[in-house]
Amino acid sequence: MTPDSLSTLTLAISGAAYLVAALLFILSLAGLSRHETARRGLGYGIAGMIIALVATIVLVVQNASVAAIILLVLALVVGGAIGLWRAARVQMTGMPQFIALLHSFVGLAAVLIGWNGYLETADVAPDLVGVHRGEIFVGIFIGAVTFTGSIIAYLKLSARIKSAPLVLPGRNIFNLAALGLFVVLTAWFVITPDLWLLIAVTVLALLLGLHLVASIGGGDMPVVVSMLNSYSGWAAAASGFLLNNDLLIITGALVGSSGAYLSYIMCKAMNRSFISVIAGGFGIAAPSQSAEETGEHHEITADETAQLLDEAKSVVITPGFGMAVAQAQYPVAELARALRDRGVTVRFGIHPVAGRLPGHMNVLLAEAKVPYDIVLEMDEINDDLPGTSVVLVIGANDTVNPAAALDPGSPIAGMPVLKVWEAEEVIVFKRSMASGYAGVANPLFYRDNTRMLFGDAKDRVEEIVRALSEVRA
Ligand code: TAP
Repeated sequence: MTPDSLSTLTLAISGAAYLVAALLFILSLAGLSRHETARRGLGYGIAGMIIALVATIVLVVQNASVAAIILLVLALVVGGAIGLWRAARVQMTGMPQFIALLHSFVGLAAVLIGWNGYLETADVAPDLVGVHRGEIFVGIFIGAVTFTGSIIAYLKLSARIKSAPLVLPGRNIFNLAALGLFVVLTAWFVITPDLWLLIAVTVLALLLGLHLVASIGGGDMPVVVSMLNSYSGWAAAASGFLLNNDLLIITGALVGSSGAYLSYIMCKAMNRSFISVIAGGFGIAAPSQSAEETGEHHEITADETAQLLDEAKSVVITPGFGMAVAQAQYPVAELARALRDRGVTVRFGIHPVAGRLPGHMNVLLAEAKVPYDIVLEMDEINDDLPGTSVVLVIGANDTVNPAAALDPGSPIAGMPVLKVWEAEEVIVFKRSMASGYAGVANPLFYRDNTRMLFGDAKDRVEEIVRALSEVRA
């Protein structure tokens, strides 16, 4: 076989492999949308990625110099080793910041590919030069916004910087002006591709990404993570156009559109305006500091809680980030079993943004073998809360804050919450009176029907399970 026909054959096979990989990615997304099929969906995704990687390596090896092959192997080994090492060690509670960090790499890669596209224009057909320059600008712009935006999200989510929104005077004008300037610079660059224009758009986009995410407050961070996920998809798609790589375009578009749709669903679930959040907190007022303590709180012990639960007809458990921190899902599942064995109706109420990433609580409860049919979503359980004997709030705070429903001046006003205060008795498990992720005080703790059970949630729930077994031993 001549080198030319070998190269044509390799191109055809890798093209077919890319198509198969793209189909597997679509099947993967479909599988991941339901508990029952999630594992299979993950399998499709892994298979698609392996096929895509092998096809890309074969393509590169076929056409590249020895130096390029050595670089490729080095990048694969070093990148793969770091990825494996970090992913094996990351805690479930650290996933959002880990994902944000990974998005920043996609953004950085898009910026580098854009710059490379400027320095390497040899293969571009003369009548497509303008389009190529436009692609370079779009790729660099989306990539740089994703890069700095994701780094700020990483710093906020890992509590390395404060999660409060940065409210600069004229911030909306800055965002709009930056977008306008990008359009002008792009047109300019298409006509005269000067290096300084490329530097200018890179700096502009880096600053815009920084500002966009810095101006979004803690409560809206879940939306930001999925929005950056979407941006990283569009950045990859833009790189696909530059590299003439169909798979990158398809995969980027899949990630971009599914991330955007997830952001939209989350905004709806949190009663936030989608445009406000993606435009960097546009129209969202700075948090008022007025919501301070409102009275005295009452405490309860684990033994007293066990007594109360023993007499209860129905119990609803609303877990939050604290259950994940304490790894309390196993004793919580045991408590649920013990109560059900005694004839108490037990259900779980899950807020859409409880924890630190979508589905966080569902994953933990599934891990502890809590049956799916007693795990209900916020909208399914809220109407039943007034008739519930006891609600156990285990390490949740913002997601059960009555201020969101009752105080129009609250920074989280309008966000739907689990109306736990409507139950007969509420027990809040936490270690102190500290506020939750959004940094907003919680009047629930001072209500007459609320009792605080202080300490680590795992220890306290274990104590209750023990005490319960003694109540009717
Ligand atoms: P949070 O409002 O974050 O409250 C968690 C509570 O758990 C804290 O008040 C903390 O109080 C308590 N806690 C921590 N460690 C504990 C332990 N070992 N034992 C017992 N309690 C413990 O949680 P939430 O109600 O789940 O709300 C989630 C928040 O995170 C929302 O504001 C949401 O917008 C944001 N967020 C969500 C996501 C997604 S997608 N789910 C992503 C990013 C951010 P103490 O310190 O006093 O113990």
